[in-house]
Amino acid sequence: MTNCIRVEPMDATLGAAVRGIDLREPLGDEAFGALHDAWLEHAVLVFPEQFLDDESHQAFSRRFGRLERVITRREGSTVVISNLSNVREDGSLIEPDGRRALFLKGNSYWHTDSSFKRVPAKASILSARQVPTEGGETEFADMRAAWDRLEPEMQSRLEGTVALHSYRYSQGKVGGLDLLGEDDLDNLPPVEHPVVRTHPETGRKNLYIGRHASHILGEDVAESRELLETLCDEACRPPRTFSHRWKAGDLVMWDNRCVLHRGRPYPPDQPRQMRRTTVAGDQADNEWAV
Ligand code: OGA
Ligand code: MN
Repeated sequence: MTNCIRVEPMDATLGAAVRGIDLREPLGDEAFGALHDAWLEHAVLVFPEQFLDDESHQAFSRRFGRLERVITRREGSTVVISNLSNVREDGSLIEPDGRRALFLKGNSYWHTDSSFKRVPAKASILSARQVPTEGGETEFADMRAAWDRLEPEMQSRLEGTVALHSYRYSQGKVGGLDLLGEDDLDNLPPVEHPVVRTHPETGRKNLYIGRHASHILGEDVAESRELLETLCDEACRPPRTFSHRWKAGDLVMWDNRCVLHRGRPYPPDQPRQMRRTTVAGDQADNEWAV
């Protein structure tokens, strides 16, 4: 079966399309090994035409580790699949500037999922159920290549620095905090992560930045914030980026440890329905993992 898996790299420093595999079927060890290797190498894998339902999406995701529970649900919930959708249960579209739209709007800025958690996420797995006729692409940027291209002076300036990542900061900036209650937000206090991380499985260094990173600890807030923004802006450019134009049924899996991503705008009068699971970081004591 692994013999039929084809991995076709994108025209960028990251990303590959994977064909010749049906993710609705349980994944044998050999196929899992092949996918895992390809994922570590390319950091983003695109699986066209998979059409997973919630159950098979979760089963596939669990092959990669424990899943994070969804932050929009109250404590004690074990829901692990997010419904990233602009469609209400009754089929109507959400208000373009209502609290759910503002919550979703946060995703349109470069970020890495769950960097605002003490144990940040390992992978995210996103699948498309219904897509707009234009826009709504998801873009990915390679933070390994972004690190490699920095001048040695900048690399040593950043080595050893620690950034404060805060959901209140990042979502507050887009006005998107209202979907969560104060008690939910209290469960998401600011956390510290090194700006330069070594990937635990590949050993490659990468920048760990994005919209949840507020500033660098022990440095001037405004100046270090500007530095982080400049780094992000310069990192997220070709050839370190690619854009995925979704078709319903596609599934994309990325490595949050070394990739930034963002969703592109689309006409608010068109439905876009996506489902996402988040594979928890490997640390044993992770309060978000179920
Ligand atoms: C996500 C995300 C962007 C998009 O699912 O984590 O940021 O294009 N999505 O929906
Ligand atoms: Mn995201």
